[in-house]
Amino acid sequence: MAKAKSAYVCQSCGTAHVRWQGRCEGCGEWNSVVEELVDSGVGAGPKMATAGGRPVALVPLSGETETAARVTTGLGELDRVTGGGFVMGSAVLVGGDPGIGKSTLLLQAAAALANQGKRVVYVSGEEAVAQVRLRAQRLGLGEANVQLAAETNVEIILATLQAGAAPDLVIIDSIQTLWTDRVDSAPGTVTQVRTSAQALTRFAKKSGAAIVLVGHVTKDGQIAGPRVVEHMVDAVLYFEGDSSHTFRILRGVKNRYGATDEIGVFEMTTLGLSEVANPSALFLDQRDTDAAGSAVFAGMEGTRPVLCEIQALVAPSPLGTPRRAVVGWDSSRLSMVLAVLETRCGVRIGANDIYLNVAGGLKVNEPAADLAVAAALISSLTNSPLPPETVFFGEISLAGGVRPVVHAALRLREAQKLGFKSAVTGKLGAGDGGGFRVSEYSELAELIGKIAARGRQSATGSGQPD
Ligand code: TYD
Ligand code: MG
Repeated sequence: MAKAKSAYVCQSCGTAHVRWQGRCEGCGEWNSVVEELVDSGVGAGPKMATAGGRPVALVPLSGETETAARVTTGLGELDRVTGGGFVMGSAVLVGGDPGIGKSTLLLQAAAALANQGKRVVYVSGEEAVAQVRLRAQRLGLGEANVQLAAETNVEIILATLQAGAAPDLVIIDSIQTLWTDRVDSAPGTVTQVRTSAQALTRFAKKSGAAIVLVGHVTKDGQIAGPRVVEHMVDAVLYFEGDSSHTFRILRGVKNRYGATDEIGVFEMTTLGLSEVANPSALFLDQRDTDAAGSAVFAGMEGTRPVLCEIQALVAPSPLGTPRRAVVGWDSSRLSMVLAVLETRCGVRIGANDIYLNVAGGLKVNEPAADLAVAAALISSLTNSPLPPETVFFGEISLAGGVRPVVHAALRLREAQKLGFKSAVTGKLGAGDGGGFRVSEYSELAELIGKIAARGRQSATGSGQPD
């Protein structure tokens, strides 16, 4: 018998190495390389000879095809992200940190579909049937006709799914617990995860069922990251959130049947995940409108406007190298805004400790937040609260100019809906203002001057709210 060959495969990105090494050359991860047998390993197909190179019939691109049938869960935020429901015959990967609420969300979706009379199978590889039942009862979904199984072997799962009537939706929680007889590596390794995902994706295409695979994202390389199956599935959704906050965001990262710039917002309650139809109201909740250093940013998450509060604290620093701490925004972007303030607008701010926080635990990664950040910084530095009914958005250029950003009209409409009265931004195109009071600045220095002047007025007691 031939000696089984082994390769050293990174459990994070799947790169194969000739010998073991502490750091993966593919992704730079430490301690993620594990020995696996390659005989049946990475990329190996089923152990069957293909039928002697039989040609397939080639067809033209044009032709009649039905539009993809979907199962709509009725959970508005979930359907929004999938583009109108799970597509029959497709595989979806739902990734996220452990404990973020993936099982809860999918159990709710499963129950909603079962209540519509769909055949839904929930296979749990992590929890026993009793645990899933208990959770369902706690969520008030105990009566839903969801078919449960606690199983981790792919062959058994496939045999079970093929035995009865074809299911409409199959949920596999989670892909990391699955193992197949076909490969020899330990469960949870890249090879196992990949082969299992492949078998299930093939089942989805053949049977017409929608399959949802749950995958944990882990920082250490012990369990294969779901990234290795991203290219196999039709859609990838990431469920994110901060464990210290109750809201969760479901984000489409890849979608072969819809747009990827959609988000769904949920709130984790004692009765499971509830949809948040108006995320801005959630992020602006308990805002301290009189405090200096707080600015409301009219941002966009995908195609959806989301307002949030940006808080800055500028404090004199006792240290030679002042402290910079940023939560929810890019710290190099903060350095850039500080440099522009210092160099182009003549503001002495660099020697202070600076803390910046996006309230509510939201992560903002739009350059359009520059203007709100600059306003919050100056407001804190000069101890002058910004007008509470004003939103800010605009990108700051290195030359100190304020650049207009996309979707200005959407941002303004959302602000208006939430009771804001005015907006500060870059020069807008004609007609973007839509009846709202919009102050347009092309130079950052002008705005800084206005905020500082407000501070001086209120210090002398003659300040009129603008
Ligand atoms: P879970 O869905 O098990 O997370 P995942 O499958 O992503 O690992 O959710 C676990 C967390 O959710 C757990 O810490 C408790 C919390 N939770 C609630 O706050 N309310 C609820 O109704 C449920 C079911 C869970
Ligand atoms: Mg879970």
